[in-house]
Amino acid sequence: MCGIVGYIGNKDCVSFLIEGLQRVEYRGYDSAGFIVMEEDSMKTHMKKSVGKIIDLKKKLKNSDKGNIGIAHTRWATHGEPSIANSHPHVSNNKKIHLVHNGIIENYISLQKKLESKGYTFYSETDTEILVNLIESYYTDDIELATKKALHDVKGTYGIGVIHIDEPDKLIVARLGSPLLIGIGENENYFASDTSSVVAKTDDVVYLDDKEIGIIYKDRVIHKNLEDEILEKNVEKIDIEVQEIEKDGYDHFMLKEIFQQPRTLIDTMRGRILLDEGTTNLGGLKQHPEVYDALINAEKIYIIACGTSWHSALIGEYMIEEYAKISVEVEYASEFRYRDPIITDKTVVIAISQSGETADTLAALKEAKRKGAYTIGLCNVVGSTISKVTDAGVYLHAGPEIGVASTKAFTSQVMALALITVDIARHKNMSFREGYKIVKEMKLLPTLIDSILDNAPAIKDVSLKFKDAKNFLYLGRGFNFPVALEGALKLKEISYIHAEGYPAAEMKHGPIALIDKDMPVVFIAIKDAIYEKVITNMKEVKARNGVIITIASYGDEEIEKLSDYVIKIPDTTNLLMPILTVIPLQLISYYIATARGLDVDMPRNLAKSVTVE
Ligand code: AGP
Ligand code: GLU
Repeated sequence: MCGIVGYIGNKDCVSFLIEGLQRVEYRGYDSAGFIVMEEDSMKTHMKKSVGKIIDLKKKLKNSDKGNIGIAHTRWATHGEPSIANSHPHVSNNKKIHLVHNGIIENYISLQKKLESKGYTFYSETDTEILVNLIESYYTDDIELATKKALHDVKGTYGIGVIHIDEPDKLIVARLGSPLLIGIGENENYFASDTSSVVAKTDDVVYLDDKEIGIIYKDRVIHKNLEDEILEKNVEKIDIEVQEIEKDGYDHFMLKEIFQQPRTLIDTMRGRILLDEGTTNLGGLKQHPEVYDALINAEKIYIIACGTSWHSALIGEYMIEEYAKISVEVEYASEFRYRDPIITDKTVVIAISQSGETADTLAALKEAKRKGAYTIGLCNVVGSTISKVTDAGVYLHAGPEIGVASTKAFTSQVMALALITVDIARHKNMSFREGYKIVKEMKLLPTLIDSILDNAPAIKDVSLKFKDAKNFLYLGRGFNFPVALEGALKLKEISYIHAEGYPAAEMKHGPIALIDKDMPVVFIAIKDAIYEKVITNMKEVKARNGVIITIASYGDEEIEKLSDYVIKIPDTTNLLMPILTVIPLQLISYYIATARGLDVDMPRNLAKSVTVE
């Protein structure tokens, strides 16, 4: 969540810093600030504001200029959102300025140590402790002082530091928070997110944990905290500026929903071997040990949070049914504090759109400590989880800016299906069955297009429920996790209370809630358990519930039982969630916008949750 941006070069960087912060607004924040310094005069200009970047912009004066600068959006962890707590923080001697994403866990003991040396603190943040810790080590070299301070720190950080007596450099470092350096012509940048620098450069270096970058205008030196020089690869950013613009859509979420036919093609690209009736995942095959472990695994844990956890549940159904390996799906936050049984036949798959979710990362580290092979399914290239795992499958869905995950979900389900077919074809799955599935995969983008063409009708149905207080989502089999996902989407952006259940569970409790004011969304497509779902629908109707059904084309029967029907095309069972979820994404979007809410940045939520 939140973000940092920095610049060093010959130009005035205020507008770059502001735009860079705007690019990471979607990650969630409550206050923002920057400091710029003029190299020649060593004059500094600092601005901070609580609320949106637009408020920060309003405070800008013509005199706010500088060719070196650091900027920050804060998602408060220590102390309320306030000017005093917002970043950059300055050291007691007013010479060192610092922006920080993350948490300094041992800040209390460090604070006591610094107080005994006479330091005073003016904010409630953990960050202010760090900037003063750096000052306490400073003699005449900011790089050295920063390294010494970071040796004392427990927790997570992505930091940018400047010292006003050393205006030729910026110092950056990371542990557990994303950080990359953008390489320009006689100017360099740093940021927590590629989208902040993509308009300026394609060349980036991703920092790894416990690494430090010393950034000059014309060069960058990489070191570890032990002062050893590191040779780092310059990588190409694989996104275009257009991908992080709204492109004429009212919201990023709507754009991302409508992008799904294309993002699925990107997830599948080069990974389908139609003639062999199978799939090919380079990110797994390049690591033969991990690939073998996956195919021969006796147990797979899939760990994730939120929407990614819902796709994990679909993965469980797929892998168990087709690849015949026992799968357990766990909330990453639970897995990390349990004592899961991990043997040499266990593989752990972590699913994370951002690749930065703190709970998933910690769970992954726990799994590695216990000796499991780990595989990452991430969307953000170069993200921490994608680096920490032994092998991985990138989603290639492009930047997901809307806080409510949509296209990442369908790409996750697709990636899991690709993995399932790959494993299954090494085992019991026949060519014919494999061929049927991969052929259906290729048809999905066109099928999604046909659902999206029906968006105006879905909108009409949605608007009837804009004032609902509660919603129930019910589905079975592969579509049970879709019910959970539909409910989560609605909650997140419309703030309507919604629950997802396996349809048959309804009679064990939630049925008590059903009356004429309770909309119930059923996913009742024609599959093996269709008849069972029909029974559940009758139970709701008998209690006057209002039924909205996601049904297969050609199903006339369903009209009689439903108040509203949204028809969708059919595909093979395991891919069905990729289709059934689309109307649910649209329903939540249309309800939330009808309620006048900011769907891209819902209250209290952040795009990537990098705190526990
Ligand atoms: C999705 O709409 C949510 N905002 C949230 O549940 C999200 O899926 C979760 O925080 C996990 O994020 P990740 O995929 O980046 O790890
Ligand atoms: N822990 C710091 C604070 O509360 C940084 C939070 C962030 O990552 O924005 O100020």
